[in-house]
This record gives sequence, C-alpha cells and structure tokens, in this order.
Amino acid sequence: MRTDRRSFFRLLAGAAALLTGKASGAKPTPERFDIHEVTRNTRLGALGVRRPRLSGPPLDHKRYPGKPRVALPARVDEPARTLAEIVRQWAPAEGFAGAAISLAQLGRLLHFTNGVTLKAPSGEKGPARRAAPSAGALYSGEVYVAAARVQGLPSGIYYYEVGQHRLVEVAVGFEPARLADAIEPSGSIETAAATILLTNVFGRYSWRYANRGYRYALIDSGHIGENLRLAAASAGLAQRDFLLFRDDLLNELLAIDGVVESVCSVHAVGLPGTLRKAEVEPPQAWVEAQHAPGFTARGPITERYHAATKLVPQREAVARIAVPKDSALPSLEPSLPLPARAAGPAMKLEDAIQIRRSTARFESGQLPLADFGHILEMAHGHAALARSENVDVYLVVHRVEALEPGFYRYDRDHHCLVAHRTGSLVGEFTRACLGQEKAGTAAVGVLMVARLGEGRALASTRRYRDMLVESGAIGQRIYLAAESAGLSARNLAAFIDDDLNRLLGFDGQREAAIHLTMLGPGN
Ligand SMILES: Cc1cc2nc3c(=O)[nH]c(=O)nc-3n(C[C@H](O)[C@H](O)[C@H](O)COP(=O)(O)O)c2cc1C
Repeated sequence: MRTDRRSFFRLLAGAAALLTGKASGAKPTPERFDIHEVTRNTRLGALGVRRPRLSGPPLDHKRYPGKPRVALPARVDEPARTLAEIVRQWAPAEGFAGAAISLAQLGRLLHFTNGVTLKAPSGEKGPARRAAPSAGALYSGEVYVAAARVQGLPSGIYYYEVGQHRLVEVAVGFEPARLADAIEPSGSIETAAATILLTNVFGRYSWRYANRGYRYALIDSGHIGENLRLAAASAGLAQRDFLLFRDDLLNELLAIDGVVESVCSVHAVGLPGTLRKAEVEPPQAWVEAQHAPGFTARGPITERYHAATKLVPQREAVARIAVPKDSALPSLEPSLPLPARAAGPAMKLEDAIQIRRSTARFESGQLPLADFGHILEMAHGHAALARSENVDVYLVVHRVEALEPGFYRYDRDHHCLVAHRTGSLVGEFTRACLGQEKAGTAAVGVLMVARLGEGRALASTRRYRDMLVESGAIGQRIYLAAESAGLSARNLAAFIDDDLNRLLGFDGQREAAIHLTMLGPGN
C-alpha cells in the first residue's frame, strides 16, 4: 500500500516536472533531454509550460533603441534562375574569392531570405507576412549579418530589421578569424563576404505552443535558411552553410545570451573562389555540452536542451550515431516509378518566394502525377542538398492522378514511390492532425520522418536539431516548387504525435513524423 502511494506520488511529481519543464535539478543527461518526447502534442495539448499570457502575442522583432541604422537599397534585379536549375546544380561553395559583394546584393539576399513579402492589408489583423512561413505567424526567427566585405558597409555585426528592410548596427568591426574559430570546417569562412546567422527567440513560440514551440523554431530556421541558400545560388553567389559551430562563440559575437535567443544555423556567402587555406588541419574535437564536465543548463526545458547540445571544445569528438537506412515499415510490391524529370516550370525562384503563401483553402481536383513527381524531386530528390541524412519523406495520398489513395515513401535513389498501404486515410489523418480540415482537403500530405535511432538516441543529441532544420528545408522547397507549378502548400506541423505515428505504423522510437506540409491545387 505504502509502495503504491509512493509510486503514485513519484508519478505525480514526474508529471508535474514534465509540465513545468523542471524535470530535474540535477545535471542533465542525454536521457533527461529526450527533446522529442517533451515536444510532443498529446490529445490534451502540448506538453510543457506556456509563458504567462497576460498580454497579447510577443513582439515579432527585436528592438535596438538608439543604434545606428543602415538603409538597404530597394530590390534590384539580378540574374535569377528557376528552382529546378538551382536544385539540380546544387553544390556548396568550396571557397570564396575574398572579394566584396554590393550592399544591393546583400539587401536582395536578405529580402528573399525572410523579408516582408506581404504587408498586412489595412484593417486586417496580424503581422506583415514574410518570405518564409512561421508557425502562427509569430516569427521566432531572426537574421543577423557578420559583414566582412560588403561595399559601403563598414565591417561589423548587423541585425536585419525586417519591417523596415534595413540593418541595425549591433557592433562595429569584427575579425573574420572569430568566425573561423567557431565553425567547422573553417577553411573557407575568412574569405566570405558576409556570414548570415539565423537565431530563434524561443519564447515567442512557447508563448503559444509550450514545449512544442521548440520544434517549430528549428523547423522555421530550416525554412528561412533554405530561402537563403537558394536565393544566393540563384543570384550567382557562392554559399556554404554550417551546422557544426561553437554556439557560445557565435552567441557572444551577436551579443545574445544563448538561452532566450540562440544561433540555430550559419551561412557564409560571397563571390565564388577556391579554397585558399587548405583544410589539412585535423578537425577540431568538439563535444556536446551535456557531456562536458561541470556543465549545467538553465532555463525552460527546451532552452536547456538547446544549451545542452551546444558544441564545446573537448578531447573526444562528437559521437557519431549510426542509424539504419531501412525503415521498419513493411512495403507492398512493386514500387511505382514517377514520371521522368522534366525541365520544370519557368518561374524564377525569386518570383516563387515573393508570391509564396500558406494556402487558405485547397481546391478539389487531382494533383497531376508529373507535378507531384517534380515537387518530390525538388523537395528531396538530390542528396547534395541534405543537411541531415536522417530524414525521409513519406506521403499520405488523397488525390493524385494515377495513384491509389494510401501511404507511400519517396525513394530518392530511384525516383519512385514505395507503397506501404492503400485505402483512403482522409478521416483518420485529419483527426491525427487535430481536426485541421486541410489535412483532408489537400491532395497529399508530405511527411518528414526522422530516423531517431534505437531508443530515440538522436533525440538527445544535436542531431535532433539538424533533423528539424532539414525537415524545414524540405518543407520550404515543397512550398516553392508548388508555387512555381501553380499549386499550393501549407505546413500542418500541429499534429498528435502518438496518433499520427500509430496511424502510419511508426513506432515513435526509431522513426517518427516531425514535420508535415500539405500540397494540392489551391488559391
Ligand atoms: C513550423 C510551422 C508549423 C505550422 N503549422 C501549421 C498548422 O499546424 N496549421 C496551419 O494552418 N498552419 C501552420 N503553419 C503555417 C503558418 O500558419 C503560416 O506560415 C503563417 O500564418 C504565415 O503565413 P504565410 O505562410 O502565408 O506567410 C505552420 C508554419 C510553420 C513554419
């Protein structure tokens, strides 16, 4: 009896700890930071604390009172390419020329990264809409520039003030060597013209979505970062992005605290060149902070996870965890080839970004198979674009020409679909997506599924960050490929994890859905 009571109180304390985000006062361990577990939606709602909601939504931008501002030129026309041209020729920059880019080039790049693309119509509620989608239009993502070689812009750290399309001077002058110390591989970064750093102010999402907001924040970075990568390539700039970086050094560079706001991805841009400094030095040995002696993290659980997966210098390198490539799901034979890759729509990438919106309404009618095949190729067909190897793409098909409704996996290597089950999933899928009607009215749901490894091993490591960023990047390419083809998309990342995974046959341990973008004809 006493044992029962004790375990009841232990259970109660455990549940309270999970809800308040105070899971442990002790040093965090990988087990305690099962971030995937604590960012689930359940039938009762999202786990974790919401920030006090005494007032309206948090500001969607930062304020830097009294700091000098630099106006960015209005948008200029530059060479532009189609999404298909960019995706098919994708290669990260080997090195940079060490030459300057113009302020207009930088301004254009920032606009297409996450600038305002739709001012809120007068009388209509809500913020101005941006180049990348954002959960609930709360915009937790911020953009900074470490400018080294930009004509007319003194070297320094700048904050991109989205609403006014201008830069705020955060710090004058900076040594590119500071970036080289913080980034892996570092050989190219000192000759880049500018390094663009994407951060998140996590509280903006936890205000509404509690712990779940952590996933959205990192997915947002994937959406925004993908615009940046594609727009840089479209304009003929070289770019290289870095997911391996020493968080503390970069947060310090931007004068942010690394708890309330933290760097989430890093992109160097410049004119193409060769690598000056051969990358012959052995890579720096870094380890996640949670494994470093004496490490303690503070803040709500999602921020603690982010801090615990900071990279810090250590003797031992970050552990590599092997994740089997093959899904545990049984498949139906044979696989279904998708139409050969056509040239793709003629719309330029910048026009697709400019008109991109999350559709308000999907229309009835089928998705043509050729469009579907093309969008899948753009989204996930080219391994060189991947920022994590551990994300697969699955499809819940409602209405695609020549395809039976059902559940499929996209096989990138063979550009074909592997069927897992057939039959309409409209009702159950919509219920698992919290009853959001677009889950059933779209033609297809594209699911980004993480291979989390045995026992969700990766959900306790920095790799989980990378998988979220990658799934956002895939989502952004779906949006842009859909716009280019005259179709529509909408993220639906609010779903009940256990219900969705159960419906599709994922165990939620080794494999789990982490992001969802709906696709179809729409307005
Ligand atoms: C991570 C993420 C999750 C989202 N989840 C949902 C969702 O569950 N349901 C929905 O209707 N829209 C969702 N959206 C779309 C946003 O509501 C939309 O991007 C935002 O309102 C801005 O509008 P825009 O995309 O047209 O610029 C999500 C967007 C992101 C980036």
